[in-house]
Amino acid sequence: MTETPRDRLSQLTLEQKATLLSGTDFWSTRALPGHNIPSIMLTDGPHGLRKQSAASDHLGLNDSVPATCFPPAAGLSSSFDPELAERVGVALGLESAIEDVAVILGPGINIKRSPLCGRNFEYVSEDPIVAGEIGAALVRGIQSQGVGASVKHFAVNNQESDRHRVSADADERTLREIYLRGFQRVVTDASPWTVMCSYNLINGVPAAANHWLLTEVLREQWGFGGVVVSDWGAVDDPAASVAAGLDLEMPGGGRDSAGAIAAAVAGGGLAAADVDTAAARMLDLVTKAEARPAVEGPLDVDAHHALAREAAGRSIVLLQNESVADSDGLQRPLLPLDTASSIAVIGEFARSPRFQGGGSSHINPTRVDSALDALTEALGGGAQFAPGFAFDAAVPAEEQARLRDEAVALAAAQDVAVVFLGLTDDEESEGFDRTHIDLSPAQLTLLDAVLEANPRTVVVLSNGAVVRLPFAGRVPAILETWLLGQAGGSAVADVLLGRVNPSGCLAETIPQRLEDTPAFGNFPGEHQHVNYGEGIFVGYRWYDARQIEVAYPFGHGLSYTSFAYGDVSVQVADPTSGDLIVTVPVTNTGASDGREVVQVYVGRADSAVQRAPRELKAFASAQLAAGETREVVLHVRGEDLAYWDTRAGRFVVEPGEYLVEVGASSRDLRTQATAELVGEHLTLPLTFESTVGEVLAHPVAGPIVLAQLAGGEPGEPGASEGDGDDTMLRLMSSFPIGKLANFPGRGLDAEAIAGLIALANGATSE
Ligand code: BGC
Repeated sequence: MTETPRDRLSQLTLEQKATLLSGTDFWSTRALPGHNIPSIMLTDGPHGLRKQSAASDHLGLNDSVPATCFPPAAGLSSSFDPELAERVGVALGLESAIEDVAVILGPGINIKRSPLCGRNFEYVSEDPIVAGEIGAALVRGIQSQGVGASVKHFAVNNQESDRHRVSADADERTLREIYLRGFQRVVTDASPWTVMCSYNLINGVPAAANHWLLTEVLREQWGFGGVVVSDWGAVDDPAASVAAGLDLEMPGGGRDSAGAIAAAVAGGGLAAADVDTAAARMLDLVTKAEARPAVEGPLDVDAHHALAREAAGRSIVLLQNESVADSDGLQRPLLPLDTASSIAVIGEFARSPRFQGGGSSHINPTRVDSALDALTEALGGGAQFAPGFAFDAAVPAEEQARLRDEAVALAAAQDVAVVFLGLTDDEESEGFDRTHIDLSPAQLTLLDAVLEANPRTVVVLSNGAVVRLPFAGRVPAILETWLLGQAGGSAVADVLLGRVNPSGCLAETIPQRLEDTPAFGNFPGEHQHVNYGEGIFVGYRWYDARQIEVAYPFGHGLSYTSFAYGDVSVQVADPTSGDLIVTVPVTNTGASDGREVVQVYVGRADSAVQRAPRELKAFASAQLAAGETREVVLHVRGEDLAYWDTRAGRFVVEPGEYLVEVGASSRDLRTQATAELVGEHLTLPLTFESTVGEVLAHPVAGPIVLAQLAGGEPGEPGASEGDGDDTMLRLMSSFPIGKLANFPGRGLDAEAIAGLIALANGATSE
């Protein structure tokens, strides 16, 4: 058998092992040529390869080799389709392999906590199951090509403001159920080769030096066996990071991190065993990378562009499509466009598409399709263009007015106006957060004027994160296209013209106002702390719990056809773990073929802990021919129904009845059923601090204490009062049992209580 880099660990000195734990330059690990250990390359990600040949930087400023720019996560996740995401992952892996890149730095699956986060375009969803499912699919696809993925940014990196210093302060239940759950799914389902830790601190401890996060949670609890790489520049103290469970500091070549690590071992501040462990993981990574057979190019640019177009088409969300009178006076939905119509294509975005975000994910695309070219190709002279506004905010008002007037005149003279609006590169990017969610005044004014000239107006939005849609009630048809990658222009034309029937759904709520959003008032924090005060109530969990009206709810997305849901049936596959099999017949009731994203939400009324009214637990997309009915079968994992019990320090599936609702969005639920789960009756060890209520609920201690309390003196804690035992017990229920010893006449002195606790704990620990 040939010796692998991993086999050479025992031949290395401490200093050599330490050199493996930081990069040699911006993108490469250190080689040890004397030991036949090569350097491997890591590059960005996440939605295309950003391999820089010269003048490296981690902010996307300098050009990289041409690569296919697939839809960024904000777009792709709207497909709600892990199978599609996996195919995109395969393509990303293949492009990396052709360029001899060992690890591509993505996917990014941080929760979209606030629409203001400058990097939301790179992230998947406000929901951890969607983030985890799409993230795991991308990782599976990438790694099927013998290339590693790097799921990032671990963890709780939900803003750009002060990202190197800010402490994300959140309680553990919120962390486990919302911010870590998606990462847990990717790690356990898809075994990424690497995880990238984030810049920020979590409850005061930097992610890059966080033993709880990187070792206890990630490795010990989730079983992660790969490499933890730092975000670029996240490490302050190399030895502390190694001790916490970090294996690779990037970039390298600046300071002598290896020397610092070796010195820490010599000085007794770092265990040599920690260096061994990290070096072993690095050699495992190098071994895996080396095992990939060389892949020869050239890249099939056309095939990958076609996949980018398919993915973009599937990511477009049809927000609304009202019926309006056509030229014959007939009422019909405005979309798809009648190809015989004359169309005013308005808005600079139609000509100069915004298809990706700024910063480290900035891809040098192999080509770029514009919607204007695609529409002109399809409609010839039937499509006329006017830019309508200038991107540059410095353009004088008179010039903006001239552009607007020209566009309005065009709109008035055509059958339909399609207005392309969105956010510019200046308005959202890695590195900073937005301060509002409004489109520019120039664009909003233009739209109002166009609408007045021609009510048959369609809006096409290009934005990496949510924008406010004050015109939602006035525009008959709106496409939310997020950012769609290099083929987005063609994909938009495909949907406008009905060549593709839209099926995308919102992976994030579109609120009515910034002030309604969950983190409002707690974002981006101050004085280097951001308080996650909304707790588990993120995204639709918040709007539903508070009954807040939204512009478009989570999961929403229309089609050119319609779907009917039959009655759902829920089978409890395992009453203890809570695994459910949900079956629902779905019929395409319209005239065209289409795809429906079927969503399963589960709620638990009267829970012992605070919960959102419903949470997404499974989804599946079904392609149905016109008139076709299919039984869609979805699996809910019991572990996803569990809440994090802070007292027990683990997930617990609560016993009782769960409501399973199935539908086309979080606010379009069509059918429901219940499931009775055995779950787990959590019996915590009793202590003197346990309340009377907790003791009474205990299977052993409860009956004894109840009998004891019934005999107390009137007027004293624990005694029965004239208005009934129930009232007194309720009154007493939050009274610590140990304190009863301070009251006479209960028959419960300290010794008796200690005996009771020992008896109860002994009985339940067996
Ligand atoms: C970003 C990472 C990226 C890295 C390398 C950092 O600034 O946060 O997402 O992978 O740079 O470019």
